[in-house]
Amino acid sequence: MNLSMKDKILKRFLLAEGNPISGQQLADELGVSRTAIWKHLQTLQDEGFEFETIKKKGYRLITEPDRVDVAKISSFLKTKRFGQSIHYFDEIESTQIIAHQLAREGAIDGTIVIAEEQTAGKGRMQRPWDSAKGKGIWMTIIVRPDLLPHQAPQYTLVTAVSVVMAMKSLYQNFTPEIKWPNDILINGRKCVGILTEMLAEMDRVEGLLVGVGINTNQGPSDFPEELKDIATSIAIEEGSKVNRAELVAEILKYLEMYTDEYVENGFKSIKQLWVEHSGTIGKRIKATTLREVIEGLAIGITDDGVLEIQLDHGEIKKVYSADIEIQ
Ligand code: BTN
Repeated sequence: MNLSMKDKILKRFLLAEGNPISGQQLADELGVSRTAIWKHLQTLQDEGFEFETIKKKGYRLITEPDRVDVAKISSFLKTKRFGQSIHYFDEIESTQIIAHQLAREGAIDGTIVIAEEQTAGKGRMQRPWDSAKGKGIWMTIIVRPDLLPHQAPQYTLVTAVSVVMAMKSLYQNFTPEIKWPNDILINGRKCVGILTEMLAEMDRVEGLLVGVGINTNQGPSDFPEELKDIATSIAIEEGSKVNRAELVAEILKYLEMYTDEYVENGFKSIKQLWVEHSGTIGKRIKATTLREVIEGLAIGITDDGVLEIQLDHGEIKKVYSADIEIQ
């Protein structure tokens, strides 16, 4: 990963977990002068980091601003490809827009775009996505799997499984459930939305732009009026504040692993995990597609990730794309 010198220094302090590091040691390790180290520490202090000077021992990081910046994510990262290139913004219209540009310019597989705040966050079906400053994870991952265009919707399901597995590995107090195709709910309220967009030629996917929005640290009063009864955050459900950088790294770990599994062995290999964590299968649902409204029992998904709904008179309908209401 190509970290700037300032980020290399910061990552070193984050990994030291509050222990002091001497200026000379840092300068030797990173191949720069002590004055250069000192200047970078000044810049970090201007950004809200606080260092304590301890005689004969060096500097200790005592306070850090709550940000999901490059150094912080990379201090948790355990992946080979995903997150090895990170584009971080304090405020941006939408991470999807920047990801489109970067993908067209040739960004590598697993590049991520992440922001503290989106001023025009995009949801599915042209809906807005509430992306308040510092309260959630607003990121787009650029993925370049070897897929045919018609397989792209399956990747949304692969992403949903990865996010659920990451949540389950870090939090104990709730059970996340996937609502087909792209939402993750906790206790019936939406916590995560996934928006997958595609750059493609007729017969080849050039890149997927997988937008993941996660409500992490909102309290009940942080949601706008229209979301108050239908949205929730991990902090509300878990009962403690989320370390967003840690969760980002955990998601990237699972997503890299399941992407490899999916590309090698097809969706079938992910399907079981998806079904295990589904809150849709076995429920009566109303699916609104572009052409019709279908009501019936969600009985499963096919090996391609297509939703199967059994109508009251027994006929089984396949749904490729729809808005779902669980009844
Ligand atoms: C949905 O459930 O409607 C999908 C929501 C997707 C939101 C994420 S936040 C990061 C990325 N940037 C956007 O503008 N949207 C996606």
